[in-house]
Amino acid sequence: MSTQSSHQTWGGRFAEGPDARVAAFTESISFEARLAPYDIQGSIAHARMLSHVGVLQSDEFETIRGGLEAIGERIAVGDFTWDPALEDVHMNIEARLTEDIGALGKKLHTARSRNDQVATDVRLWLRATIDSLIGEVNRLRRGLIGLADHHAETVMPGFTHLQVAQPVTFGHHMLAWQAMLARDAERLGQIRARANKLPLGAAALAGTTFAIDREMVAQELGFDDVIDNSLDAVSDRDFAIDFVSAATTIMMHLSRFSEELILWMSPAFGFVELPDRYCTGSSIMPQKKNPDVAELTRGKTARVQGHLTALVTLMKGQPLAYNRDNQEDKVPMFDTADTVGACVALFADMMPHVAVDAAACRNAARRGFATATDLADYLVRAGVAFRDAHEIVGNCVSRAIHEDCDLAELTLATLQEYSTAIGADVYEILTLDGSVAARDHLGGTAPSQVRAAAARARATLGD
Ligand code: ARG
Repeated sequence: MSTQSSHQTWGGRFAEGPDARVAAFTESISFEARLAPYDIQGSIAHARMLSHVGVLQSDEFETIRGGLEAIGERIAVGDFTWDPALEDVHMNIEARLTEDIGALGKKLHTARSRNDQVATDVRLWLRATIDSLIGEVNRLRRGLIGLADHHAETVMPGFTHLQVAQPVTFGHHMLAWQAMLARDAERLGQIRARANKLPLGAAALAGTTFAIDREMVAQELGFDDVIDNSLDAVSDRDFAIDFVSAATTIMMHLSRFSEELILWMSPAFGFVELPDRYCTGSSIMPQKKNPDVAELTRGKTARVQGHLTALVTLMKGQPLAYNRDNQEDKVPMFDTADTVGACVALFADMMPHVAVDAAACRNAARRGFATATDLADYLVRAGVAFRDAHEIVGNCVSRAIHEDCDLAELTLATLQEYSTAIGADVYEILTLDGSVAARDHLGGTAPSQVRAAAARARATLGD
C-alpha cells in the first residue's frame, strides 16, 4: 500500500493513502473472507430491491447480478485474489465487480453502508453456522441415545462428590448427557430466531434518503423481519454474544463429558475403551493410550470462554452507533464456531464407538456400598423411621467395612443384630440389579425407564 495515491474507497477527501502500517492494522480481509458468499447474496438482494424501487434499471440489475454471481463462483473455486489494500471483503468484491462490469459496479453501494452490510453478512453467516451446528449436536445426541438403549441394563456406580453413591445404569448416564445437548440445540434455535432479522437499510446509521423496500430484501434473504431501529441495526452485536454464550455452554458440557471419559478410561476406573484412532500415545511410555480428544476439548473450552469475555468486553464501552471496534467481533466469533464445531463433530464420530466394560462398571458399583440407601428404604417400609434406618444402615456398613465384604455378603443373622425388622427378603434389594430396577418411575434409572426415556428423546429428534 502506497502513501502516494488516495484510497480508492474514500479517496475524495484524502490527500494521501493510508500509511502502510495503518493499512495492515485496519484490514480485515485476512480473517473474514468466509463472509464472501453472504456478502454476494446480500448485494444481489440489495441490487434487486434497488431496481424494484427504480433506483437501478432492470438491465443494470441483471448485469450487476451476473457480475456478482461470477465473482462468487471464482471465490468458491479459489480463483480469486484478495487484496489487503482493499481492506475488507466488501471492498474486494465491489472493486472486482467494477473491474469486471465497468462503471455500473460503482452504483451497487447506493443506499447502503458497510455498516449495515457487514451486520447483514454476519447474521447470514451465523444463521448457516447455527444450522449446521444444530445438525452436529443432534448427531451426537443420536449416538448417545443409541448407547443408552444398548446399555439400559448395564449397572455402574452413580457418584456424588465422586464417591460411589447409588447404582445407576450406563444408559441413564448417557441420557443425562443427551439432555444437556437437547437444551443446547434448543438454545441455538432460539438464538437463530432472534438473530434472523435484517439490518440492511440502516445504511451508515440513520437510514437512507432513497425509498427502499426493506421487507423485500428481508424476504429474499430469508430473514423473518427487519430490524426496526437503524441505530440499533448497525451497532447491535447481542446476537454474536448470544451465540458465543451458547457455544460456551456447549463446550462446558463437552468439557464435563471429557472429564468423565478421561476418568473412565483411566485403568483405575476402566469403565470404557475408545478405539485407537481416537487416542494418541506417549513418546516415552510405550504402554500409554491417552484420551487426547477429550483432554483437548476440555482445554479448548477455555478458549471459547475467553471469546465470550472478549465480546462482552468489546461491546461494553461503545456509544451508538457503529464503531470500528466491532470489526474485532469476527475472530472470536469465527474461532468459536470452528472450535465448537470441531469438538461436537469429533464427539459425534467417537461416542458410538465407545466400548463399555460392563464387568468393570459393576465391580466398581459393588465396592462402594451403593445399595445402602436401598437398605434404609427397606427398613422404612418395614415401619422404621428414616433417620433411625439411616443410623442402622450406617452400622451395617461399618460392620461390612470391618469384615471387608459387601452389604449383600453379611449374613442375615449379622444384619439382624442391627435391626429385627430385617428379613430374608432383604437380599433382593441389596443387589445392584434390584436397586436400579426399583427406581421405576419417570426419570428414574430402572432399565425400563431408560428405554422409555431413550424413545422419548428419539421422538424429540423426529426419528
Ligand atoms: N470491517 C468492518 C467491520 O468488520 C466493516 C465495516 C466497516 N465500516 C466502516 N465504517 N469502516 O466492522
